[in-house]
Amino acid sequence: MKQYKIAVIAGDGIGPEVIDEGIKVLKQVAELDSGFQFNFTYFPWGCEFYTKNGTMMDDDGIEQLKEYDAIYLGAVGFPGVPDHISLWDLLLRIRKGFDQYVNIRPVKLLKGAHLPLVDVRREDIDMLFIRENSEGEYSGAGDWLFKDQEHEVVLQNSVFSRKGTERIIRYAFERAKKDGKSLTSISKANALNYSMVFWDQVFEEVSAEYPEVETASYLVDAAAMLMIKDPKRFEVVVTSNLFGDILTDLGAALAGGIGLAAGANINPERDFPSMFEPIHGSAPDIAGQQISNPLAAIWSASQMLDFFGYETYGKLVLDAVEQLLVEEKVLTPDMNGNSSTSDVGNRVVELINSLVLSQNAKS
Ligand code: NAD
Ligand code: IPM
Ligand code: MN
Repeated sequence: MKQYKIAVIAGDGIGPEVIDEGIKVLKQVAELDSGFQFNFTYFPWGCEFYTKNGTMMDDDGIEQLKEYDAIYLGAVGFPGVPDHISLWDLLLRIRKGFDQYVNIRPVKLLKGAHLPLVDVRREDIDMLFIRENSEGEYSGAGDWLFKDQEHEVVLQNSVFSRKGTERIIRYAFERAKKDGKSLTSISKANALNYSMVFWDQVFEEVSAEYPEVETASYLVDAAAMLMIKDPKRFEVVVTSNLFGDILTDLGAALAGGIGLAAGANINPERDFPSMFEPIHGSAPDIAGQQISNPLAAIWSASQMLDFFGYETYGKLVLDAVEQLLVEEKVLTPDMNGNSSTSDVGNRVVELINSLVLSQNAKS
């Protein structure tokens, strides 16, 4: 039987609450198939670990994680530890350390999730964001000059390498081609006169290799407006690290809320583990109350199943989530329900089982 070793970093705030529910779902799926099993190993890394040890993860944490098939992460960051320390020392360290240069974030309005806009049809909100996840505005390079002096200057450098830019754009073209979708590039060359001029140039170059893929290109400000006004324009979307970060929170608001938005940090070459996580943060304002929405974490578990090649199970999990939304009975307060985090996870597990039973009855 195939054994998948999953490293679980539940992290801070609502991280552990939502991850518990995702793990319930993964365990249930493994129960349905005698061909594979998940073994979960928990890592206690995060802000509490930092207050005890002065680091967010073990010094050899990246080495430790190398032997896992995937990482399942809740959220990182909590008041008391400066965000730039907690995130750079854990989340971003893993994304970069394992060269997870593709961040896949679906912006798709599932059945049952509330339509956020008038004059927009459900099927119009069906995008797949492919966010560059290893460099760009998140290069970490910069300097703080003349600190605390009158002439203080702070530099934060973006880095767009040929290799880094080309590989993400090529990945997006391959995905658009495979799905038979158009590809939109989002950039900002009118103001960012080096990085985004280069980005646009590489997009054009790679585009020439994919004559079958219809393309569009927007400036990021206009793209933000068009995502609300005319979301059907966007199918597969490729963009830089920071723009992708911002636009996928906007996308979350379009597609059922931040509690439903999932993401996969992929190392396509599979040299290192990939990491699956909801796109939301640790939500300190609601942490510890069992009212956080676990559906984003569950959707990212479904992305993990897809990644391992079990697309049928990935779809089964999403179908169960969709059914839960359609039922409108077991929902957390952010979706106007009054159920708890674990009620939602339990109901998803029940729905998975009933979907399997009804499929078996049909066949
Ligand atoms: P956030 O996503 O944590 O919260 C924004 C708002 O959305 C809050 O009102 C919160 O209650 C709500 N929310 C988020 N997830 C929810 C869920 N599952 N169910 C219901 N409501 C939910 O963003 P923030 O407040 O800007 O950041 C809080 C901390 O998380 C910061 O330390 C930040 O750096 C960190 N952060 C971490 C990640 C990550 O680990 N991937 C992502 C984003 C933010
Ligand atoms: C996300 C988060 C992270 C990012 C932060 C916490 C560093 O906002 O995953 O969307 O900006 O990538
Ligand atoms: Mn974000």
